[in-house]
Amino acid sequence: MFLTKGLICIAFLALANAQFATNYASGRNGMVHLFEWKWDDIAAECENFLGPYGYAGVQVSPVNENAVIGARPWWERYQPISYKLTTRSGNEAQFASMVSRCNAVGVRIYVDVVFNHMSADGNSYGTGGSTADPSSKSFPGVPFSSLDFNPTCAITNYNDPTNVRNCELVGLRDLNQGNSWVQDKIVDFLNHLTNLGVAGFRVDAAKHMWPGDLAVIYGRLNNLNTAHGFSSGAKPYIFQEVIDLGGESISKSEYTGMGAVTEFRHSDSIGKVFRGKDQLRYLTNWGTAWGFAASDRSLIFVDNHDNQRGHGAGGADVLTYKVAKQYKMASAFMLAHPFGTPRVMSSFAFDDTDQGPPTTDGHNIASPVFNSDLSCSGGWVCEHRWRQIYNMVAFRNAVGDDQVSNWWDNGSNQISFSRGSRGFVAFNNDNYDLNSSLQTGLPAGSYCDVISGLKSGSSCTGKTIVVGSDGRANINIASNADDGVVAIHVNAKL
Ligand SMILES: *[C@@H]1O[C@H](CO)[C@@H](O)[C@H](O)[C@H]1NC(C)=O
Ligand SMILES: *[C@@H]1O[C@H](CO)[C@@H](O)[C@H](O)[C@H]1NC(C)=O
Repeated sequence: MFLTKGLICIAFLALANAQFATNYASGRNGMVHLFEWKWDDIAAECENFLGPYGYAGVQVSPVNENAVIGARPWWERYQPISYKLTTRSGNEAQFASMVSRCNAVGVRIYVDVVFNHMSADGNSYGTGGSTADPSSKSFPGVPFSSLDFNPTCAITNYNDPTNVRNCELVGLRDLNQGNSWVQDKIVDFLNHLTNLGVAGFRVDAAKHMWPGDLAVIYGRLNNLNTAHGFSSGAKPYIFQEVIDLGGESISKSEYTGMGAVTEFRHSDSIGKVFRGKDQLRYLTNWGTAWGFAASDRSLIFVDNHDNQRGHGAGGADVLTYKVAKQYKMASAFMLAHPFGTPRVMSSFAFDDTDQGPPTTDGHNIASPVFNSDLSCSGGWVCEHRWRQIYNMVAFRNAVGDDQVSNWWDNGSNQISFSRGSRGFVAFNNDNYDLNSSLQTGLPAGSYCDVISGLKSGSSCTGKTIVVGSDGRANINIASNADDGVVAIHVNAKL
C-alpha cells in the first residue's frame, strides 16, 4: 500500500507544478478571510468595499453541506455530510452569483475545501437536508460507504506519519484519498467549483493526507474558467493547511512541491516580535531565514480562524483583534514587507472558543452592520475594514515589486524601511518615543500617513509627513501613540 503511494507520488509531482500563482487581477494584492460570512454579503462586500479598496481575493468558509451540530459551533463547517453546495452561508445559486459579482470587480474567490474526512459519530443531519450515518461510515449524499474510509483508529502520535494520515482527527471519519472513487468525488467537487469561477483552494487538513494522493487529485484539476476573466491555461492556486512549527515528523517541504502552504511559523514569529518577545531589529532578514517556506510557497497571516481561538496550532503568542494596537502593527508589517502571500483575518467577536457566528435566531447567520466610519458591528469585527489594515493593502498595491531598501533600526524595537522609492514605513515598539530624521527613499514632497488618516483631495485627515530633497523626513512615533506605525507611499502624496 505504501509502495504504491510512493510511486504515484513520484509520477505526479511533476504534473502538479503550476499551482503557485495566486491568479490575482493585475495591480491587486492581499486576500481576506471573510470567516463565516454569507455569500450575498460577500458579493456586496466585493462591490462596496473590497474592489474599491484594492483587495485581491477572499477566502470563503467551506461551501459544501456540513453537519448541523447543537449550538452551531463554527467548527460544524469542518464536518462534511456531502458535496452539495448548501450551507448556512447560502445555496449554490447564491454562491455562483457571489463568485461572478466578485470576479466582475477584480476580486477572486478561494474556497476552503474539506476532503480529508467526513463528519463524526452522532452528527448525521446536513445543512442541505441530507442525512448520514457516520457510525457505519455511510454518507449517501455523496455517496460514500465504509469501503471509502480508512479503518477506525485515533490520531495519537504526531511523530508517526501513518497514524497522522490514516487515522481519525478528533473522531472525524477519515476518507482514503488513495481510493479511486474517493478521488473521483473530490475531483468532481473541486472542478465544479472551478467551473463556477473560483480562483483556487485552501486545502483543509492537508497534513492529514498523503502527499502522493494529493498530487493525483491536483493533477486532475481543470484549468480556471476563462469566462470569468482568467487567462487560458491558468491553474487553481492551491494553499495547503500544513501546520509545521517544527518538532514533528511531517514537514511542510513534503507539500511545497505541489502548492503553497499556510505558513504557521510566520504567525508564531510575528506574534512574538510584536508582543515584545523578539526585537524588531531582527526583522531585517524576515523570510526563509526565519524557517519559513519560500516566498511564493508561503500563505502568511497574523492569525487564522483556528489559532486566534487556541485551536489547531494555537499558541499564546498569536496576536488577534483583542490586542488591537500590536495586531495592527503586525498586520502593517506583514503587508509592508514583500515576503509571502498575505491573508488578512476578518473575524466575528467571540468569548467562547466554540462559539459560532452572530445569528438572528440561533441558526441563521446575521449580516454585518456597517457604520459610517466603515467599521462593522452586529457581532462582526471586520479587521479588513480597519483603516490601518485596508490602507496597508493599498500600500502593498502601490509599491508593487519594489524591494526593501533604506533599512534602519535603532538597535532595538524601532525600525523603518522603504520599498524602493514607492513606499516607506516606520515602527516603534519600544517604550520610549521615536523622533528621528530617517531616509524614506521617496521623492520630495508632502505625504499623508495612511495609518493615522486618509488622503482626501490635497489634504490628509491624519499626520502629514514632509520628505525633503534629500529623501529624509522627520518621523515621530510616541511610545504611547494610538498606532505604533507611520506609512506613506506614492499614491498618498499630497
Ligand atoms: C534606540 O534604542 C536605544 C536603546 O537601545 C535608545 O536608547 C535610543 O534612544 C533609541 N534611539 C532612538 C533614535 O530613538
Ligand atoms: C523632535 O525632535 C526635533 C529636533 O530634532 C524637535 O524640534 C521636536 O520638538 C521633537 N518632537 C517631539 C515631539 O519630541
